[in-house]
Amino acid sequence: MSQQMSRRHALAAGLAAGTAALGATAIGAAPAMAAPRGRGSGNPFLEGAFAPVPFEVTEFDLPVTGTVPKELTGRLLRNGPNVLGLEDPRAHHWLVGDGMVHGVRLRDGKAEWYRSRWVRAKGTAEKLGEPVRGVPAETDYASNINVIGFRGKTLALQEGTARPQELTDELYTVGPCDFDGTWAGTMSAHTKLDPDSGELHSVSYDESTDHVQYVVISAAGKVTSTRKIPMGGTLLMHDFALTEKYVVLYDQPILFDLDAMKHGQKIPWVWDTKRPSRVGYFPRAGGPVTWISVPPSYISHTLNSYDDGGAIVVDFVEFPAPFSADRLSSSAPPSLVRWTIDRARGTVRRTQLDDRPQEFPRVPDARVGRKHRYGYTAATADFLKAYGHGSTPDSAFSNGLVKHDLATGRSQFHRFPEHASASEAVFVPRSGARAEDDGYVLSYVHNPDRNASDLVILSAQDFTGKPVARIHLPSRIPLGLHGSWIADA
Ligand SMILES: [Fe+2]
Repeated sequence: MSQQMSRRHALAAGLAAGTAALGATAIGAAPAMAAPRGRGSGNPFLEGAFAPVPFEVTEFDLPVTGTVPKELTGRLLRNGPNVLGLEDPRAHHWLVGDGMVHGVRLRDGKAEWYRSRWVRAKGTAEKLGEPVRGVPAETDYASNINVIGFRGKTLALQEGTARPQELTDELYTVGPCDFDGTWAGTMSAHTKLDPDSGELHSVSYDESTDHVQYVVISAAGKVTSTRKIPMGGTLLMHDFALTEKYVVLYDQPILFDLDAMKHGQKIPWVWDTKRPSRVGYFPRAGGPVTWISVPPSYISHTLNSYDDGGAIVVDFVEFPAPFSADRLSSSAPPSLVRWTIDRARGTVRRTQLDDRPQEFPRVPDARVGRKHRYGYTAATADFLKAYGHGSTPDSAFSNGLVKHDLATGRSQFHRFPEHASASEAVFVPRSGARAEDDGYVLSYVHNPDRNASDLVILSAQDFTGKPVARIHLPSRIPLGLHGSWIADA
């Protein structure tokens, strides 16, 4: 059984990649277990900007072009697969493999440090020849999709069967987080933090069960509510949506099927044309789940969701059906869509917000579950073409970020130099901001000229203007998945 099969990895529908030239101080990671890299692997996700980096890096006092705003005090962290010790490069799937968290710390107008660290989940610690942290579970293989801040803790998240891993401020792995002994299970990679109550909400799936698990962790850091929701199948639910009153679930026909790997797939998830698609919602305060049929598609990521009178509004990135999780492709590129769920009528109205290819949707953290005006996405490679001929992994990144004004329907496009690759954009408000877009947009951008990454800071209100600052990292962050700004305060 291959490594991927035995680990039964869950799949994210994100996007990512990176290149690396390690000019900086390289620390850790025994070369014998170094991540594969180089040309000729036969797998595009092991090469170029996608290639895993072979070392951990620590570098201080990073060079900056422009001026880092002094009010930005904290860390921009990002997680993504960075596989160690591959058995068969040709069988490698982009989204499978050990997680590596990258981070830059800003303080007093300076880029104080850059660090990259593998997340020492059980499987990764064993590969590195290190002691396993905490009480191990067989399923703690990788933690490679997202990294968040919660109550002063830094948590690396996967999904499926993996537990969250707590990291120190400097990205060393502490071990599995059980929220003061109140939770032994898994969590979603896309948790939602209620900006008012401070509650952390998660809807996670497990490949071995036919239900999803809803969990609420209070602002005090303890699990206060759990609920199993039957789904009638072992399906993949990478993301969900949260409003002030409701939890929204996407029941989409991507099912766990180990046999698929006998037929050449790299991961065991298949699109089932016979399974109907539904959207479900239930009150946060408790109550039955209401299901409504919707046309099949794959919702990879929620931009945001909110209550609007008798409706629930959900904005998200959608891949047209059928979606192949194995090939990360669909019949047309992903685009930005709105559902308006009429609770009284039991109907869903679909609105195409923007039909240009894009992914990695984000709103300001303070708008999660509340009506938002602005959203930020990363354009995919087909964005600049006349609606390309389908999404492929190679087109997952481009040199642009998009700012959407959903009140006016207009958008702005920030274009980086040709062949650069911009990753997920994270909004950080200015001190005392009054307008929703009064702040900065931060993104790690692969710079092909240096074969390394820059942390680029844009002014959200001058989105197409010259970057406020470009912080030059000593090495490459492989094009990867999700992350957070974790302020000191
Ligand atoms: Fe994701």
